[in-house]
Amino acid sequence: MSIISKDIQKAVALLTEENVVAIPTETVYGLAGNIFSEKAIKSIFSTKKRPFFNPLIVHIPSIESLDGIVTHIPEKAKVLAKAFWPGAMTLVLKKHKNIPDLITAGKDTVAVRVPNHPVTLELLKQLPFPLAAPSANPFGSISPTKAKHVANYFENDIKMVLDGGACQNGIESTIIGFEGEKPIIYRLGALALEDIEVVIGKIEVKNKKEDKPDAPGMLARHYAPKTTTFLVDDVANEITKHIGKKIGVIVFEKSTNNTNITEFILSKNGSKQEAAAKLYDTMHTLDHLNLDVIIAERFAEDGLGKSINDRLQRATFSS
Ligand code: TXA
Ligand code: MG
Repeated sequence: MSIISKDIQKAVALLTEENVVAIPTETVYGLAGNIFSEKAIKSIFSTKKRPFFNPLIVHIPSIESLDGIVTHIPEKAKVLAKAFWPGAMTLVLKKHKNIPDLITAGKDTVAVRVPNHPVTLELLKQLPFPLAAPSANPFGSISPTKAKHVANYFENDIKMVLDGGACQNGIESTIIGFEGEKPIIYRLGALALEDIEVVIGKIEVKNKKEDKPDAPGMLARHYAPKTTTFLVDDVANEITKHIGKKIGVIVFEKSTNNTNITEFILSKNGSKQEAAAKLYDTMHTLDHLNLDVIIAERFAEDGLGKSINDRLQRATFSS
């Protein structure tokens, strides 16, 4: 029997009994457990094969639920939370002493967000505890944006994937931390940099491994297909270097018009929102076609293009 189900009450029961359940969010599916259950949290780490030094994101149903999770909230964090929650933004704030060290990898900060998905908001409202949830993929591999992707990874490891359909944003949340009162972007993501700057002004980005070596999303290679993947500006030219091989291509809006390859166009009308939403699903599909090589086109570096390039860069060996 499939582990995929739409039954919210079943998810409530399993989570209450300290099990791990995969949940939908607007960004990617998460592997969720009660933040206060050592059994559930350890099970999240072992299922993902994720090292314990990588902290988890805590998911709450509303801004009000920050009480008891964090202590100090900088002014700009309040403004950001009001502007973007529920939504694809995670805030890293000073943690309340109640938050177990397992969640935060011993740090004095905790990452937290209110996800914008009706099914998971309903689930969180019914539960008397918040949910810790990293993306529901084995450590380092492509994040899941459909219930089926999660089942393909973890059919034998977890009891349930709560099905909320395809994730609308399709890449992980943007993570914002604070140095004192100053906000810093730790991970580019589904909420575009420009949209954040409209609300709080210019913001520094420390998205690189060199800047932030302790966050796994910052690893140089992450979100990666098994098939060797190249990220390039000129796809047609790259294709000529792999003649005779089985080639898969991911392009933004324009076809390469090459009939010898398997091609996926992310958005025929040039919408970066649509491209982001389809990116991981396309990578999952290509990765199951037994190709020799995947070639992806680099996006223009504005709006979500920056975030998409960041994920593509980490999925590839060369540029
Ligand atoms: O969209 C998302 O954020 C998804 C959905 C499920 O909410 N979750 C997600 O979780 O992407 P995960 O675990 O794959 O990535 C969480 C990132 C990691 O890079 C982790 O290092 C960072 O958040 N993080 C967590 N707590 C932190 C902290 N206290 N300080 C700095 N970074 C932290
Ligand atoms: Mg992840």
